[in-house]
Amino acid sequence: MIKTVEWTSEGVRMLDQRLLPTEEKYLMLRSYEEVADAIKKMVVRGAPAIGVSAAMGLALGASQSVGTSVADLEFDFRYMCKVMEATRPTAVNLFWAIERMRQALARAKAETKDVEEIKKRLTEEALLIYNEDIEANRAIGLFGGELIPDGATVLTHCNAGALATAGDYGTALGVIRGAIDAGKRVAVIADETRPYLQGSRLTAWELAKDNIPVTVITDNMAGHVMKQGKIDCVVVGADRIAANGDAANKIGTYMVAVLAKQHNIPFYVAAPISTVDLSTATGDDIPIEERDAKEVTHVRDHQLTPEGVEVHNFAFDVTPHELIEAIITDRGVARAPYSESLRNLVTTRLAHAS
Ligand code: MRU
Repeated sequence: MIKTVEWTSEGVRMLDQRLLPTEEKYLMLRSYEEVADAIKKMVVRGAPAIGVSAAMGLALGASQSVGTSVADLEFDFRYMCKVMEATRPTAVNLFWAIERMRQALARAKAETKDVEEIKKRLTEEALLIYNEDIEANRAIGLFGGELIPDGATVLTHCNAGALATAGDYGTALGVIRGAIDAGKRVAVIADETRPYLQGSRLTAWELAKDNIPVTVITDNMAGHVMKQGKIDCVVVGADRIAANGDAANKIGTYMVAVLAKQHNIPFYVAAPISTVDLSTATGDDIPIEERDAKEVTHVRDHQLTPEGVEVHNFAFDVTPHELIEAIITDRGVARAPYSESLRNLVTTRLAHAS
């Protein structure tokens, strides 16, 4: 199993995804600040993985708090949450995980005044979030695998695999692994996903490791391979799904959705329920991160663009719900009208496929 992020007695152990696919290096992060920095610099990335890492960072920070009273610990904890919240704006899993940790502190505080006990419960909550993510992606694989025809070629954009989650299956790649584990033959076409190249570096790496057939294309080839009839369906992840079903994901996903519509190719979004944000009404309300221009103007230290030229680096875009065939979650598959089906899934107790 790919170990994207792990809780250890020394700190949070994290695979440095900036170095993949050529180097598989693990960092030991020994403070919540180091974890926050790793999220900002995309040592770890992918909405669920960001959430799990933030929870572990907060548990680590709490365990190192020198506060002797509950009030001291709470003071430190509130500050740590602010630091974590300021790392990246789009992936709602970050804020979902921080809120889970806040609630865990509040529950523990109501039951005990023992600071060490409260710290222990925060660690337990972070590990619960980790284990729930692994389980959720297996459920997504089961529900989603049923939608993939035997012999299908699936196009995916960015990396929504083990590397984008707590590890193991992933979301969109979980659907592909679920289909294969159900005995189906599936091949993958992965968009390279400029500028950070999550497709060519990360998706290709983890699928090759699992001997799942994968072909990398540049993002601007997606239309051509669809027109050639090479694509049976598209499966992507999501960073935030609004109440009406609009889904934010890696920049370029909207483009792929429009092309899929043009070629009558089903376009699926796979994400855990923790990525559904009912407090955000539509995609227009989702904050879109803009990152450093250098990610566009350079590949590592190689300069691609002349000095001084204006550059945009939008990290995400929004696919309107009208272009989405179905949203595959760990509680089942949602279909239009999403304002109803998503609300039902969010409020329904776990309906894990056993
Ligand atoms: O900028 P990134 O690499 O964090 O963007 C990641 C994505 O857009 C993923 O597709 C999304 O987070 C889903 S991950 C299961």
